[in-house]
Amino acid sequence: KAQDVSAGERSWNKCRACHQVGEGAKNLVGPQLNGLFGRHTGAVEGYSYSTANKGANITWDEAVFAEYIKDPKAKIPGTKMVFAGIKNDKEIADLTAFLKQFDKD
Ligand code: HEM
Repeated sequence: KAQDVSAGERSWNKCRACHQVGEGAKNLVGPQLNGLFGRHTGAVEGYSYSTANKGANITWDEAVFAEYIKDPKAKIPGTKMVFAGIKNDKEIADLTAFLKQFDKD
């Protein structure tokens, strides 16, 4: 399968210490990630972003997300997200499919 939501859900375990997604998702260390695709960087209400993330002037789509999650600090220098990244393209595709389930708030 090109994109495997259940594999993506396992990959999401790498994110959930800092992020929530789904019904009732709250901001934690990082912003909640409902409706990520199509929204602008730094747009979650009530979350205190770094100026780097807030000012990145990027709209999240699949391609930008894939670049970002491979190496967050390369895509958004100065981000306060401390995460080494996911290097495997298939894992990124699966994680994307998982996150897209929550494309509406
Ligand atoms: C920001 C995704 C793992 C902490 C973000 C943003 C995305 C994202 C898309 C930008 C949100 C926006 O612009 O609204 C992910 C994914 C992860 C992951 C998919 C797992 C694969 C983590 C982990 C941590 C973390 C493990 C904590 C150790 C943060 C923080 C921000 C952030 C603090 C805000 C950055 C800033 O304002 O500079 N994350 N993240 N994330 N994430 Fe993550």
